[in-house]
Amino acid sequence: MKKKDIKELVRKEVFSFQPYIPGKPIAELERELRQKGVKVKNIIKLASNENPLGPSKKAISALERSAKNIYFYPESSCPELRKKLAKKLQVKPENLIFGNGSDEIIELIGKVFLNPEDEIIVSEHAFIRYQMAGDLMGSKVVTVPMTPYPFVIANSSLVIATPTASLCEAKRWGVAISLGTGSVKQSRFSKGVGFTHDLVAMAQAVTPKTKAIFIANPNNPTGTYNTADEMESFFNHLTTYPLNHLSTMPLVIIDEAYYEYAKGEKDYPDTLKYFRGGKNIIILRTFSKIYGLAGLRIGYGIAKKEIIDFLERIRPPFNVNSLAQEAALASLDDGEQIKKSIQLVKEGKKYLYQELKKLGLNYVPSAANFILIEMKKEGKKVFTELLEQGVIVRAMEEYGFPEYIRVTIGLPEENRKFIQALKKVISIAISR
Ligand SMILES: Cc1ncc(COP(=O)(O)O)c(C=O)c1O
Repeated sequence: MKKKDIKELVRKEVFSFQPYIPGKPIAELERELRQKGVKVKNIIKLASNENPLGPSKKAISALERSAKNIYFYPESSCPELRKKLAKKLQVKPENLIFGNGSDEIIELIGKVFLNPEDEIIVSEHAFIRYQMAGDLMGSKVVTVPMTPYPFVIANSSLVIATPTASLCEAKRWGVAISLGTGSVKQSRFSKGVGFTHDLVAMAQAVTPKTKAIFIANPNNPTGTYNTADEMESFFNHLTTYPLNHLSTMPLVIIDEAYYEYAKGEKDYPDTLKYFRGGKNIIILRTFSKIYGLAGLRIGYGIAKKEIIDFLERIRPPFNVNSLAQEAALASLDDGEQIKKSIQLVKEGKKYLYQELKKLGLNYVPSAANFILIEMKKEGKKVFTELLEQGVIVRAMEEYGFPEYIRVTIGLPEENRKFIQALKKVISIAISR
């Protein structure tokens, strides 16, 4: 038999598939710096939106208690966690699915629902795993531009520039409003850049081929969120749009990985209401962020039973390991840790906003535990220069922001170290 080139065996979608670029782990940077003979003490990672307070003590105790049992396979359906979480969320246990991170559920959604002739709708600059789920299945990914930055500078004062911007939004963006007339000079951010999902435009992009619409709320990496009113108009559009002759409305996936940080925002939507109303939605949440269990990989989805049943059909057995189940279960009992984590981010955000303003850098106000910062120079370069000082952030080129970085809000001393390092990067740029 003629020897085949391995490429002939590979699915065609895999050739153009772009692998995910994760945040650089501390151990990897340590190795790289050691090889170069560079000594950097106390490397900090502010790159993957983890909770710097770490997991709850209750989770650690649960892990210690259950470590001895890891020679057993886990209970595949996470029964104890399912029961407890269902009670907390006031949903039925059969309305939940658990994944190896919420990330796995995104991929399961693609595998269950997407054929090559189908379309999915995502927002430009949205969390990249939705596009990847579509790409993997060979479906068309329709990308809808974000709403533009709503304020411009005119005659040296900031004015509302888009009809969707409101006074409430101005407050969120921390801009002083002066409804001056006069010619519009420039946007505070690079021209044409938007930061928030345009939900109405996304609803209007639906065609008979649309299978799924992905919404990250808040979005990673912009940190922006869509309000309850915007969500309501989105669902109204979906049901009244001329395409309502579709026999079934497409699936709406609302990814709330940063829910616990954002839910305190006054107009943050309660999306469980749409689930209770019987809509075709899947709400995704995770134990990786505020619960501090990213390394264990556990997230979950909430949806009506018919949807969950199809996802369960292809869920790999034992996808959530026993330690992850125990730690998540114990974490649900630690409301104090959640409160502390929210407070830490609130204070860290205040400090970072102030310092960024002093440095004359634009940032996007965030409802999550990270901030997108405009550097007005190549983000990758800033990333590398910060690495040399032992600070790991994320360059944002693959998200369509080549001149931005994203920084996770850390402990106060980490935030200070980041600002000091950033100052050095800026002064290097000026002195060149
Ligand atoms: C918006 C969003 N969704 C989902 C995830 C995946 O989280 P996990 O797979 O750790 O649950 C992330 C992680 O960064 C995220 O930012």
